[in-house]
Amino acid sequence: MLNRRNLLKAAAGAGAVGLFPWGRVMASPSGNVAVLGDAATSAPFAHAMPMPPVLRPSSSTAAADTYHLRMAESSLEVVRGLRSTVRTYGGSLPGPTIHAVRGRTAVVHQTNGLAVDTAVHLHGGHVRSQDDGLPMDTIAPGATRTYTYPNQQRAALLWYHDHAHHLEAENVHMGLHGQYRITDEHELSLPLPKGRYDVPLVIRDARVEADGTFVYTRPSDCPHLLVNGKERPYFKVAARKYRLRVLSACVNRYLSLRFADGAEFTQIGGDGGLLDAPVTRTSMTVMGGERVDIVVDFSRYPVGSAVVLENTLAGSGERTEVLRFDIDRTAEDRSSVPGRLSVLPPVPRADVEREFVLRTYPQMTINDQLYDPARVDVRTTLGSSEIWTVKNVEPPVARPDFHVWHSFHTHLVNFRVLDRNGRGPGPDDAGLKDTVTLAPGDTVRLAMTWSGYTGSYLYHCHQLGHSSGGQMGRIDIVAP
Ligand code: C2O
Ligand code: CU
Repeated sequence: MLNRRNLLKAAAGAGAVGLFPWGRVMASPSGNVAVLGDAATSAPFAHAMPMPPVLRPSSSTAAADTYHLRMAESSLEVVRGLRSTVRTYGGSLPGPTIHAVRGRTAVVHQTNGLAVDTAVHLHGGHVRSQDDGLPMDTIAPGATRTYTYPNQQRAALLWYHDHAHHLEAENVHMGLHGQYRITDEHELSLPLPKGRYDVPLVIRDARVEADGTFVYTRPSDCPHLLVNGKERPYFKVAARKYRLRVLSACVNRYLSLRFADGAEFTQIGGDGGLLDAPVTRTSMTVMGGERVDIVVDFSRYPVGSAVVLENTLAGSGERTEVLRFDIDRTAEDRSSVPGRLSVLPPVPRADVEREFVLRTYPQMTINDQLYDPARVDVRTTLGSSEIWTVKNVEPPVARPDFHVWHSFHTHLVNFRVLDRNGRGPGPDDAGLKDTVTLAPGDTVRLAMTWSGYTGSYLYHCHQLGHSSGGQMGRIDIVAP
């Protein structure tokens, strides 16, 4: 309906073109101009799902492992039969997975072999400010920066991705993302599926043109869904339990995932590692940045059958299929999901309360301000426990309208969701979180303790097109 408010919104949207350059002709922040042609078409399930490579340390001592990665353009097959130029860490999409162990330091030397600035952020990492990959701490083309990750935190699936100011959305979309797994003795002691039965599913959207060109554009023009870097693949599984670590690396959209037959699965973890107890679910909504750790029992299916994971929030003209599991053999299964998975730290009791208002119109802001790296938005003291009330004040619209959805992500620490719209946290909000989804009209209350390190950190919307445009704030933590 075109009422005055919508007209104002349309006008504001047109004015925002400089920062949010989407249209038939779009100029990217790095100066590339892409003219959208026809998207590549291909039948689903044309590729086997690959496993992202695991990064081997170049050297190790008793207490630390040292890694080297180089960012570069690589030509990869994303859609069957086409070559696409993407930006990679170490030549693969997703980048190689770093396997870290709690208590052992990882030192990662990142060399920028690209023509654009980059900054490497470890999402979910409890690290010093100078190792956080802040937007202005960039690596110029040709330069190298060393990041030190102490891994003094519980087992969890983290991920590393670009965070260079104004460039992170395009850089991550073009391929600069990889996984970072931390394991610990407690996790290893549990009888959960392990080894080849513990499988990453890195899911993200993309647009590949009919000639193979990979472009960054708005999510409604991104009809391809990649799992571990291949469009809508198939994965051969044994009729037994698998642990599937779902990471949404979507830059500007969310997904709602379910098995096409409505099958139940067991959620065992989220952003910040294992939940206290497993939860049985049939669907999950995941925003870019969120992780959902699930166990699926394929022994319910006969050998020779298949089940499809689908996205019920596919846009018009977009396929719903994400990944097909082909049950092709039997296998022994001694794994199980214990009723008690982990002990979560106590929910912080707040000393300080703060409020954050997220808007899309007239600009994508937090508390009506665009990010300014020189302005401190929140100053707090080390050890401060806080309740943050975060609101998406855009009015509700028919789903899916990705542009008025927001999310909220904190660097350095995990938080607990106390409530959502006055009700207790739902399963999408369970456990330790670092990224929450905010539908239009939603209010969430988060509790966290700013522990570990002093210095500058960030909070922002994890729709990276929004954070690139300035929907981000600076928090400085000072010694008490
Ligand atoms: Cu995953 Cu500040 O980001
Ligand atoms: Cu946002």
